[in-house]
Amino acid sequence: AKVEAFDIVIFGGCGDLSLRKLMPALYRGYLEGSYSDDCRIVPTCRNKKDVDGFTTTLTVALKQHLSADEYNEALVEKFIALVRPCVVDITKHDKHWQGLADTLSAADHQSRIFYMAVAPAIYGVACKHLSKQGLINDSARVVVEKPIGYDGKTAAQINDAVAEFFTEQQIYRIDHYLGKETVQNLMALRFTNVIFEQLWDAKSIDHVQISISETVGLEGRAGFYDGAGALRDMVQNHLLQLLCLVAMESPNKLDANSIRAEKLKVLEALRPLVGEDVEKHTVRGQYVAGAHGDDLVPGYLEELGAPHSNTETFVAIKAQIDNWRWSKVPFYLRTGKRLRSRSAEIVIQFKDVSHHVYDDSVGALAPNKLIIRLQPNENIKLTMMTKDLSSLETKLKPVSLNLDFSDTYEDFKSDAYKRLLLDVAANNPALFIHRDEVDCAWGWIDPIIEQWVKTDHSPDLYRAGSWGPSAADKLILDDGRRWYCGGER
Ligand code: BG6
Repeated sequence: AKVEAFDIVIFGGCGDLSLRKLMPALYRGYLEGSYSDDCRIVPTCRNKKDVDGFTTTLTVALKQHLSADEYNEALVEKFIALVRPCVVDITKHDKHWQGLADTLSAADHQSRIFYMAVAPAIYGVACKHLSKQGLINDSARVVVEKPIGYDGKTAAQINDAVAEFFTEQQIYRIDHYLGKETVQNLMALRFTNVIFEQLWDAKSIDHVQISISETVGLEGRAGFYDGAGALRDMVQNHLLQLLCLVAMESPNKLDANSIRAEKLKVLEALRPLVGEDVEKHTVRGQYVAGAHGDDLVPGYLEELGAPHSNTETFVAIKAQIDNWRWSKVPFYLRTGKRLRSRSAEIVIQFKDVSHHVYDDSVGALAPNKLIIRLQPNENIKLTMMTKDLSSLETKLKPVSLNLDFSDTYEDFKSDAYKRLLLDVAANNPALFIHRDEVDCAWGWIDPIIEQWVKTDHSPDLYRAGSWGPSAADKLILDDGRRWYCGGER
């Protein structure tokens, strides 16, 4: 079904996020027929030159970021007809906003989405101008991108600045991980299968691992990344959101308030890491030159072009959730750039059976593991012990029940931004982050950073193309466990 006609203004329309993710996502929505020709897409750029050349820039970007079967010349042309680029210099005074006001006034009644694909520091100014120009109508919504802040304090400032002009119901804070179909599948898996839900607690689960490993490095975002680092860039948002989805209680309903209430309880129950605990339970790393296959890869400092930086490109953390369900079940979180392979995986490691009836001659017993691979090659695997049928002797053998989504859904292609943009257009905030979650997540992250700064904790070095620093292995090995790395290692 088509969503009601809308206008979407993208501040930072000529930027990387807009051209690489948002425009292809909007095109895909159009290709599927999810919205009508009455919609208008209004990317704003600071310079007239960029606005004049926008159609060419957009065509090149779409060619580059869409697959050959998605790129349909006639349809691209129709899509481009909906695009009305506009010059706006956000930080400048009123006359720089006139073009936008004129463009939007042509359809005053239409619902409006303002997408902030610009530096968070100017979200507030942008909202102020929108309000002054009378552009925030009743149906207006604003989409804000992460990073929301640099710490709890700056996040609150940004949230306050936006809240002066938009109500919480009008604010859509995006975490694109929540738009991934496989991430939503996690809820479906947990809350519709009695076999899992019965075992989903400290009685049956030994520990949980959540890993997002990337092979890419700075991708031209040196300025932002060096000021942020992996903890702020990935853990504060994506990893903590995944942790919430694994750990939360079943929401009463699938609406935004019910889901948020359950996620919030998990964030509130995260045991604070302060002082010495930070030294014991966190690892930070930075990559040095290495290789991916035959390709040599420069180190972080070389990519950055700086002689020194303390920024972490890798983090591993042992987190604990202090509530009834998860008492004494560690959640090991790990993420890094320039690692061996790209994947996002959640591993639920179950406990050993309570009593061994077989003796050691049958081979080692491996406790059950549920491995949920979010990307790439979405897959769910459950490892189990069975009798080795090829042997007359009693030998046991671990086997996997394998659910490969590429078999079930041949053309499976998920575009998190498309999904989330259409949710904004349909006024559905269920997959967006409430302010309380942002505050709570920072409340857990801030003391970790404070301790790192206090102890001038420089990162452990790891080779590009490896699985991260050896300290990360030690973190989990000290508990008698090991990282699961897609079977590789
Ligand atoms: C972004 C981070 O939020 O997520 C990037 O800022 C990271 O540094 C990206 O590369 C990873 O997203 P995905 O969807 O490619 O796993």
